[in-house]
Amino acid sequence: MNSTKIKNILLEADYSEIKRVFKEAKTVKQSTLGHDIYLRGLIELSNICTKDCLYCGIRKSNHSVNRYLMTKDEIIASAMFAFEKGFGSIVLQSGERDDENFVGFIENIVEEINYLTSQQLRITLSLGEQTTETYKRWFNSGAHRYLLRIETSNESLYNKIHPTNHSYGNRVNCLSVLKEIGFQLGTGVMIGLPYQTITDLVNDILFFKEMDIDMIGMGPFIEHSHTPLFGQPVYIANSHSQLLELSLKMIAATRIFLPKINIAATTALQALDPLGREKGINAGANVIMPNISPPQYREDYLLYEDKPCVNDLANDCFDCVIKRIEFTGQKVALFSSGDSLTFTSKKGNIT
Ligand code: 5AD
Ligand code: FES
Repeated sequence: MNSTKIKNILLEADYSEIKRVFKEAKTVKQSTLGHDIYLRGLIELSNICTKDCLYCGIRKSNHSVNRYLMTKDEIIASAMFAFEKGFGSIVLQSGERDDENFVGFIENIVEEINYLTSQQLRITLSLGEQTTETYKRWFNSGAHRYLLRIETSNESLYNKIHPTNHSYGNRVNCLSVLKEIGFQLGTGVMIGLPYQTITDLVNDILFFKEMDIDMIGMGPFIEHSHTPLFGQPVYIANSHSQLLELSLKMIAATRIFLPKINIAATTALQALDPLGREKGINAGANVIMPNISPPQYREDYLLYEDKPCVNDLANDCFDCVIKRIEFTGQKVALFSSGDSLTFTSKKGNIT
């Protein structure tokens, strides 16, 4: 599949043809990876952030946010909940901080979770741009996956949605460093950003291949009224339903282009449609990331507004996710690490 084919998928307007492409992507997923859907328990451990991304609800200039940092005990309790439920892996996500207190805190928590679970719970970090030294420390403490979205592979668009002290080059460099250290590497983009074009999205998928990415998390951009990007013109989708359809087409095109990769059906899909994540699975995604953060923190971690599951208890989220996945005809792979096939099939990567 080349870039013209990707573009055709993204531009397809005929409903029955779109349905056919989604089915093809799901078939590719099933024949490459089977019926399994992997769970990652998402722990949003802090909304304190030193960055000021123009799209993000928890950017440092949003003074209406009530800031929190979960305690070590709370984070470990959430991780153990995931472990006992058979999630196989967790994601520790937070606003971006690079001070020694934070770096050491994470290092310590990763070590402790590995100790308590005899390294049977895969730990993914989603903690933004850091120095090579920090990435190495976190890797050595036992975190072996890292998610860092490129947000968009178009450098000039990247500059439009970030403050001037952010650098696209540094973001790409972080991805290369993470790969070099040996992390299983995840990235992703937002779909329907102001000023974004279909060509940008095609290039995003080519970027995933070029950077040898193992895991993808991408979802619709949902504007937040307390951010500078609120009300900016979006060219490629006029409504929530168009944006959902475009996001699903991105999942399908990525699956067909990169069959072995892990692709998440993200929570942002569900923000657009109560069945958004199931639709993501039906378009070729194979990972779901239920939010297992303690309920009292959830309404303070609003990257975008109308985020779903804010009032749910972690256990409810679990039960509801299992039912929702079965509804798609797939099966939840409990107690499975869910490593990306792109990663495990590389020589020397033993998990
Ligand atoms: N809409 C959708 N996704 C968002 N993110 C941040 N803000 C928004 C928003 N307004 C995504 C970014 C980030 C991830 C953690 O959440 O892609 O990398
Ligand atoms: Fe920091 Fe979004 S700007 S997490």
